[in-house]
Amino acid sequence: MSFLIGENMTGGYGAADILHDCTLAVDLGQIAVIVGPNGAGKSTAMKAVFGMLNLRGGQVRLDGQNITTLSPQDRVAKGMGFVPQTNNIFTSLTVEENLEMGAFIRRDDFSSTMEQVYELFPILREKRRQPAGELSGGQRQQVAVGRALMTKPKVLMLDEPTAGVSPIVMDELFDRIIEVARTGISILMVEQNARQALEIADKGYVLVQGRNRFTDTGQALLADPEVRRSFLGG
Ligand SMILES: Nc1ncnc2c1ncn2[C@@H]1O[C@H](COP(=O)(O)OP(=O)(O)OP(=O)(O)O)[C@@H](O)[C@H]1O
Ligand SMILES: [Mg+2]
Repeated sequence: MSFLIGENMTGGYGAADILHDCTLAVDLGQIAVIVGPNGAGKSTAMKAVFGMLNLRGGQVRLDGQNITTLSPQDRVAKGMGFVPQTNNIFTSLTVEENLEMGAFIRRDDFSSTMEQVYELFPILREKRRQPAGELSGGQRQQVAVGRALMTKPKVLMLDEPTAGVSPIVMDELFDRIIEVARTGISILMVEQNARQALEIADKGYVLVQGRNRFTDTGQALLADPEVRRSFLGG
């Protein structure tokens, strides 16, 4: 049984559906990666799983519980964290204020969680008093991931965490994401760097036009000639 599953999701923003019977899932402590062309509906599927889209069909289950009608806030309280593709930090707030904002639903002392985020991303400790908008692209993504970790999620959803960063920074971010998964947090991640992301994926999904096109282990997708030819540049 998957820890988090969006099953047979159908829906969109208005009259026309973007997602058609789309299924995404991640097991406990594993990394699931979603790839596919621009406009395939990857972000829409992530929003659907997080409760930002009304589904016409299908359901979302977390740890066996049907959460399809819960608001995003209630999903955070249940252990979900989400880093959207765009506008995922408060640029005018400092790094530390961003992390504090991430802890908004917590009523307990979150200083040890902030310490863990600073241990995972040491550069953020150095820059904690700087406005997040002054940071490099890779550092901003660290702020966004760190912010989402502040609620101590059981599952972390990341929409293109390595967008716009150099290959070296991408490798570092993937290493940190693997580190997070090793602490037992499940990762459901959209990635444009498909080949590199599938290399670290326990499970991979290729979405095309809002539908599941291929689903397999990351390794099997990387070895599939059709997936390689059509989606991985040969
Ligand atoms: N807020 C919105 N309102 C209406 N249509 C939208 C909205 N957001 C996305 N769409 C449409 O939904 C479809 C899927 O978009 P989506 O952003 O989910 O794709 P994606 O796979 O994440 O693409 P990318 O790789 O560029 O991030 C596109 O046709 C897009 O134009
Ligand atoms: Mg997207």
